[in-house]
Amino acid sequence: MLENRNMRRQISTGLFSLLIFLFTSEEVQGRYIVGGCYTSSCGDIKSIKYPFRLKTDPVGCGDPEYELSCENNKTILEFLSGKYYVNQISYDEHIIRVVDVNLANGSCSLPYKSLSLGDLMGDSRYTMVFSTFTSFVNCSSEISNQAYRRVPCLSGNESGVYVIYDNYIISDLRGPCSFISRVPTISQAVLFPSYQSILKLMQSGFDLQWPAGCWYTSYGYECYEPG
Ligand SMILES: *[C@@H]1O[C@H](CO)[C@@H](O)[C@H](O)[C@H]1NC(C)=O
Ligand SMILES: *[C@@H]1O[C@H](CO)[C@@H](O)[C@H](O)[C@H]1NC(C)=O
Ligand SMILES: *[C@@H]1O[C@H](CO)[C@@H](O)[C@H](O)[C@H]1NC(C)=O
Ligand SMILES: *[C@@H]1O[C@H](CO)[C@@H](O)[C@H](O)[C@H]1NC(C)=O
Repeated sequence: MLENRNMRRQISTGLFSLLIFLFTSEEVQGRYIVGGCYTSSCGDIKSIKYPFRLKTDPVGCGDPEYELSCENNKTILEFLSGKYYVNQISYDEHIIRVVDVNLANGSCSLPYKSLSLGDLMGDSRYTMVFSTFTSFVNCSSEISNQAYRRVPCLSGNESGVYVIYDNYIISDLRGPCSFISRVPTISQAVLFPSYQSILKLMQSGFDLQWPAGCWYTSYGYECYEPG
């Protein structure tokens, strides 16, 4: 199975090199090298390569489905209308760790975009791994439940915004609370973390895994190397 894949990879890489050579040999002093694409980098993310591409990469480098952008030396993933900073990419494990832009600096804020399990399940590019959810709710009276942690900067006298770690079922909500938003959050075995701990967990982001395997791309049959 593996050999078969590698063989197909070699064949497609061969064709790929030929195409690159035929169509782009004039651009060799640019970003192309014969036989493939240069690895790009942005800020702390030193290696941006297949399946990822930067918006500024030449057409044909990386997979357009896995496009990232680079703003002020921060690598950004736009995904399901959300905007996430990329903290880390592990090509061995096919895992990209991202954090909602509003939560990345650890300050008190609502997420930029709510992202639920259903949203994630409807997108085949990524699967959430090793992560759970944190929910933000707005309650019209004081809640005394250890799972509900008050968000000071968003709470008024009459109402309180609370975060609930490890919560992803809306029907779990109790009392006079309405749902505001939900973000995937790194999973840790902590029972009723404090608000500060939840902030830190949200600031760490969450892991998305892209599938391993082989696909037809604009260059033919391409395989992600298994770890
Ligand atoms: C990005 O980083 C490079 C190299 O570290 C630096 O020269 C450049 O000024 C930075 N750009 C911004 C917008 O911070
Ligand atoms: C975090 O970002 C927010 C919004 O961009 C900003 O208002 C706040 O000052 C930042 N906090 C820190 C600690 O950098
Ligand atoms: C929470 O609810 C109150 C009362 O309905 C409202 O004034 C407030 O803006 C809400 N806060 C958030 C963050 O949605
Ligand atoms: C909230 O309550 C405090 C103390 O009871 C009061 O001084 C303040 O004016 C109230 N703020 C609002 C926005 O109602």
